[in-house]
Amino acid sequence: MKLSGWHIKNNTIRVVKILRIKPENPYVKTIFFRDSLCSSAEPGQFVMVWIPGVDEIPLSISSVCSDGSSSITVAEVGEATKALTSLKVGDLIGIRGPFGTSFKVTGRRSLVIGGGTGMAPLLMLIDRLVKENIRTTVIEGVKNRDRLIFLDDLKNLSESGEVEALFATEDGSYGFKGLATDLAESILRREKFDIIYACGPEKMIRKAYELANSHLTDFQASLERYMRCAIGICGSCVIGRYRVCRDGPVFDKKKIKDIEKYLGSFKYNEKGEKVPVI
Ligand SMILES: Cc1cc2nc3c(=O)[nH]c(=O)nc-3n(C[C@H](O)[C@H](O)[C@H](O)COP(=O)(O)OP(=O)(O)OC[C@H]3O[C@@H](n4cnc5c(N)ncnc54)[C@H](O)[C@@H]3O)c2cc1C
Ligand code: FES
Repeated sequence: MKLSGWHIKNNTIRVVKILRIKPENPYVKTIFFRDSLCSSAEPGQFVMVWIPGVDEIPLSISSVCSDGSSSITVAEVGEATKALTSLKVGDLIGIRGPFGTSFKVTGRRSLVIGGGTGMAPLLMLIDRLVKENIRTTVIEGVKNRDRLIFLDDLKNLSESGEVEALFATEDGSYGFKGLATDLAESILRREKFDIIYACGPEKMIRKAYELANSHLTDFQASLERYMRCAIGICGSCVIGRYRVCRDGPVFDKKKIKDIEKYLGSFKYNEKGEKVPVI
């Protein structure tokens, strides 16, 4: 594969200082930094974040602020994310990117469904939908109240009437009791949407895709696969005929149809072994 000027520029690692850290809940933090390429990122794009001495991992850009800073929102799940969430203001991280495709605004009525840290790329999308005056309903689904992220941001947007923000918890500790897609299904029975946007656990995305099909609604979703190079070379993020880093992470309905047999079914792990999607 021949690398373009764009690839070379975005793929060059930059060292940035952590400017601010916002705890979202006991397990998730939003980390702010300044980088000129990230400040023009589109909703849904991701960066490769180098945690010195540990690993490099893909994370979505969760916001681009008016002061030119950007953020990533990270859940502590293993070694690299634990090391990243342990860093302090002033510590340094490496950034490559932004990479990949982005969510595209289409239609006048949208339903955004996010599961857990899947809300990270959707926060920037919601900001774009608000700016473009699209009537938007957001559903954030998590296991329990403790796991909610961006709660204040979404409540503020809801109170000012910019979006309708709804919350679903599996144990009923906040908002609707059940899955985000259960709540989406009941809303879709009484209201027509032009598009559903989704990000989160792949089984949730699969269900959201099925809802989009049964309600004749357009669909875009951000998918995750194991990533190394992030520029379409190594093949570790393959899904059917696509590479998630280059052809995604945001896939439209037509591309998802091409890979629907893999969606929520299986993926390749870091050793290249085929494993079920949990
Ligand atoms: C495009 C994209 C965007 C993402 N955005 C976010 C985000 O905004 N916030 C967030 O908290 N998480 C995000 N993730 C997931 C995040 O990359 C993993 O949680 C992280 O890599 C785990 O690393 P670890 O060492 O802490 O955990 P490990 O114990 O190494 O792994 C835990 C899980 O993360 C997966 N994982 C590990 N390394 C990678 C890798 N290089 N590429 C993909 N998956 C990996 C493993 O397969 C495993 O399922 C995103 C993943 C992708 C592909
Ligand atoms: S991560 Fe290497 S091809 Fe996608």
